Amino acid sequence: MALRVVELIERKRDGGKLSAEEIEALVLGYTKGEVPDYQMAAFCMAVVWRGMDAAETAALTSAMVGSGERLDLSRFGRVVDKHSTGGVGDKTTLVVGPLVAACGAPVAKMSGRGLGFSGGTLDKLESIAGYRVDLSTAEFLAQLGRIGIVVTGQTADLAPADGLLYALRDTTGTVPSIPLIASSVMSKKIAAGAHAVVLDVKVGSGAFMKDLAQARALAKAMVAIGVAHGLAVTCELTDMEQPLGRAVGNSLEISEAIAALRGEGPPDLVRLARVAGAEMLVRARHARDTRAGLAKIDRALDDGSGLAKFRELVAAQGGDPKVVDDRARLPRAPRVETLRAARTGYVAAIAADGVGIASVRLGAGREKKGDPIDHRTGIVLHAKVGDRVERGQPYADVHVAGKPGDADAIGMVRDAFRWSARHVAPRRLILGRIASRAD
Ligand code: URA
Repeated sequence: MALRVVELIERKRDGGKLSAEEIEALVLGYTKGEVPDYQMAAFCMAVVWRGMDAAETAALTSAMVGSGERLDLSRFGRVVDKHSTGGVGDKTTLVVGPLVAACGAPVAKMSGRGLGFSGGTLDKLESIAGYRVDLSTAEFLAQLGRIGIVVTGQTADLAPADGLLYALRDTTGTVPSIPLIASSVMSKKIAAGAHAVVLDVKVGSGAFMKDLAQARALAKAMVAIGVAHGLAVTCELTDMEQPLGRAVGNSLEISEAIAALRGEGPPDLVRLARVAGAEMLVRARHARDTRAGLAKIDRALDDGSGLAKFRELVAAQGGDPKVVDDRARLPRAPRVETLRAARTGYVAAIAADGVGIASVRLGAGREKKGDPIDHRTGIVLHAKVGDRVERGQPYADVHVAGKPGDADAIGMVRDAFRWSARHVAPRRLILGRIASRAD
């Protein structure tokens, strides 16, 4: 087919539809460098405005999967993956992965880096001295067989079209589009060979999806793509109006994840990890139903087998396993600034985006792709929405490295808090669930 890219852009711009063959030709042409960035960016912008129907979204996903290799993990049994659409303080993977693997279900996880104010699992794991996030496909498969868990970066051979497109979208204002996000997330899950995936769709100021209606639409699109490719998919819709847990920032979040595996985690993080873990076990057919899944996850928390699996994971990927027993070995910021309540009151809101932007300012995240990050810095919240704080009591610690942006960041954390003289109800954490049929 002679590809007339401008005609495809114009048709989408005017609200028309593209065939699967046209979408495939466009994506493969872009991956090979035959379609230039400016045309692909114009096409993405047309999709942002005009959307794509289910058939177009499925075709886009298939084209991105087909741009690289697709792993076959069937020799490991039913492999389950977990993915969050991104938020502030979200270290759930680091807790739930080891718990599920400790229950005997293989966990093969390819994670990403943080971008904007949204943190990334790979950056967090690199707080652990020596931890490698660049395993080859052969190493990935060998480790999955040996210890039943692997958490690494995506290899360049998997859905390369998504890697190129995501970088383009990130710099052309074309990230926020349900078909583009759904196909991007699902193409990676399908290419990575999982049989089932549990997705955490974050909703709120600290997430891509700002309201529940958008989050539901994204979840439905991802479930439909999964079903079309033979994957079992569960989407939990969860709150991201305030950060998850207490810690925001790389080594601080690793420390909190270890605390959670020791049974000392903040209640919201632990609840999310239990719910996602139980669902992963059900989807991997390691538990009959959610109740049985929860019982297994609780056992792995109580008997320390989840913690032991995390230690094994860290050691297998070249990291210092002693951090698991001695969190003081993690990198620490030279100074901690404590924020104290000016008067007694209740926390009414903590803007997740405000805290996330403050963490970037402290160096814990990137302003743009490729920037170096400081694993030591971040924020620890001592109060969450609904908590009563007495006058003079600390409500947040800001871990600073002594850089010019520190004062700004401290101000942003202070401004992220809203206070009330009257009692405020805690926020609901789990807002909904959209799933493919039980299998
Ligand atoms: N995460 C992804 O993997 N892709 C997107 O487009 C947005 C979030």
